[in-house]
Amino acid sequence: MITAKTKVCMVIGDPVEHSLSPLIHNAGYRAAGIDDQFVYVACAVNPGNIPMLACGVRALGIRGVSCTMPHKEAIMSHLDSIDEVAQTIGAVNTVVQENGKLVGYNTDWLGVVRPLQAITDLHGKRAAVLGAGGAAKAMVYGLLREGATVTICNRTETKAMALAEQFGCKAASLESPDITQADIICNATSVGMGRSEGQSPVDSSLLAPHQIVLDAIYVPMQTKLLQDAAACGARCVPGTEMLLHQAAAQFELYTGHTAPLDAMRQALQEELQHA
Ligand code: ATR
Repeated sequence: MITAKTKVCMVIGDPVEHSLSPLIHNAGYRAAGIDDQFVYVACAVNPGNIPMLACGVRALGIRGVSCTMPHKEAIMSHLDSIDEVAQTIGAVNTVVQENGKLVGYNTDWLGVVRPLQAITDLHGKRAAVLGAGGAAKAMVYGLLREGATVTICNRTETKAMALAEQFGCKAASLESPDITQADIICNATSVGMGRSEGQSPVDSSLLAPHQIVLDAIYVPMQTKLLQDAAACGARCVPGTEMLLHQAAAQFELYTGHTAPLDAMRQALQEELQHA
């Protein structure tokens, strides 16, 4: 039951009404038996209101703020401190309020690393990251940190080169043989969702049975890339696992409790199947 002692956490985005974060976090609070202590809501925040948002969060004593598009970079200059990992990635997806101070973190890289580590040892593996935007950065950081070698493959190769230079790895095109040779392929492009649903960022001939293929896209859950990967015998990690694991890491930062992953996963899957 929500009482005067219940702490508020929220996701901010623009738009945000389709966010699955409230569902995942609140399912976690219930399963952990802390739904009297925490509640999680979604707030649509116009980019122009980000400076005021930080004041509001302080004034209201909001415990945690998950930041999604387009706020992950803009929020950074309004925080009291930012941990080193979020600074390196250049984006904050998690803000925790501790004694009136707003601290920025990034859990997106854990959303990539944790589901992969559940099925393989990343050390020494060759990874191809498809895309060179914001989503790619957290992937590249996480894969490199866990000892994989990374090639960033992007439609606009100059963008891949700029990101590769920043992280000290290799850049290539979306037709590169590095994709075929990779042990792990991670999609951070937007190809496969929205208007490009049914399309894949890479030709299916570049996929191989020994590979693990992770897609950051979770609507649809079965992207064309993952369908092609499954058809050739590769292992698939759907975007729901990334969403779940980045949320689980946030849950732990907000509440100090271990995230009840199975309950959070079940709530997410039920919702997506229903949708
Ligand atoms: P995000 O912050 O979510 O990563 P973004 O910065 O807009 O979003 O990045 C989108 C990524 O999808 C980019 O790597 C983009 O490639 P370009 O750098 O060449 O634009 C990639 N992308 C989008 N549409 C694409 C398409 N039709 N084919 C290939 N790549 C595409």
